[in-house]
Amino acid sequence: MTLDGSALNGIESLGDLRGRRVLVRSDLNVPLQDGRITDDGRIQASLPTLRQLTDAGARVVLTAHLGRPKGSPDPKYSLAPVAERLGELLGATVAFATDVVGESAQAVAAGLADGQVGLVENVRFEAAETAKDDAQRGAFADKLVALVGPDGAYVDDAFGAVHRKHASVYDVALRLPHAAGNLVLREVEVLQRLTQDPDRPYVVVLGGSKVSDKLGVIASLLPTVDRLLIGGGMCFTFLAAQGAEVGGSLLEADQVDTCRGFLDDAKEKIVLPVDVVVAADIAVDAATSTVAAERIPADQKGLDIGPETAALFSRHLAEARTVFWNGPMGVFEVAPFAAGTRTVAQAVADVDGTSVVGGGDSAAAVRQLGLPEDGFSHISTGGGASLEYLEGATLPGLAVLED
Ligand code: 3PG
Repeated sequence: MTLDGSALNGIESLGDLRGRRVLVRSDLNVPLQDGRITDDGRIQASLPTLRQLTDAGARVVLTAHLGRPKGSPDPKYSLAPVAERLGELLGATVAFATDVVGESAQAVAAGLADGQVGLVENVRFEAAETAKDDAQRGAFADKLVALVGPDGAYVDDAFGAVHRKHASVYDVALRLPHAAGNLVLREVEVLQRLTQDPDRPYVVVLGGSKVSDKLGVIASLLPTVDRLLIGGGMCFTFLAAQGAEVGGSLLEADQVDTCRGFLDDAKEKIVLPVDVVVAADIAVDAATSTVAAERIPADQKGLDIGPETAALFSRHLAEARTVFWNGPMGVFEVAPFAAGTRTVAQAVADVDGTSVVGGGDSAAAVRQLGLPEDGFSHISTGGGASLEYLEGATLPGLAVLED
């Protein structure tokens, strides 16, 4: 779908919200380590919509998911730390319900005063949230809707989840007056610019581990882009398709033919690494070396693009007027393999034109590597969602907001 952003209505379309309960879906799926939030970017990104609603006097019943629990409560995926952080950022107490639609959620929703926010527990603790069966999801959506009552409304601000046909993203919007939150509107506006007549040269950088996740987007982007730079774990399947020896690097053998097909069709557009940082294993004290991309020793794994490749990618990026970047160039979380991602991230930030970072790991990389976020035109909160948008797929969470 190339959604026309004008088909989405913003919060103002819901009319006077004072005293009304509003069900909000945000993407608060943040990384946690030992119960501590390591990157609160998605919580920060949810603030403008929440503030607009609370300023308008709405009583906000907030829903979100965290990780991929198996459809029942699992303390590891509790949103409790998120409620606390959200409260700090909003400068107000966020009431937290220890269930999703049960007694605790009902009490929190009922107890909200005008301008207050209550967060219910991880919606994925309920198996019906992600059920394939429409009736099952619908029955759960009815319970979510009951939290806001007959005068309620729904605001979807969870851009990172709009590609999911889940109850809190899709079915609730069928049941309540609905609007798109500010984050969703902004994300769609930016991605639309990439799909409709981008300034050229238009360069896309793709990385990350799995090439199979990116086949759809590669197929849709190749006719449109001027250059496609490929790094990260996914580059080794492309390199293998060219006949390279990739040693112990990530390889999706069943995708080699597809990658060869892309290279046959668009060899002049696809830019692959020429050198690679290798090691026997991923470790902070790993003994690393840099080797030619087509001759990785059998006992070594490619774990980052090499300095020549980083310079080559940077040259292409310096010429670009529009850039979309999704996926790290290497295992950036581990110091010896961070340089490629850092150099590319800096080159994307330096682009003289529009630079969009596509969610997930790449957004986390920008923050973890300490790069100034205002260097980029836009840092998306949606990894999978932004790729599916660029791929032209129908995103259920956006389609349902269109009317
Ligand atoms: C994401 O992390 O990309 C979003 O929060 C969606 O999460 P999901 O892939 O588990 O649906």
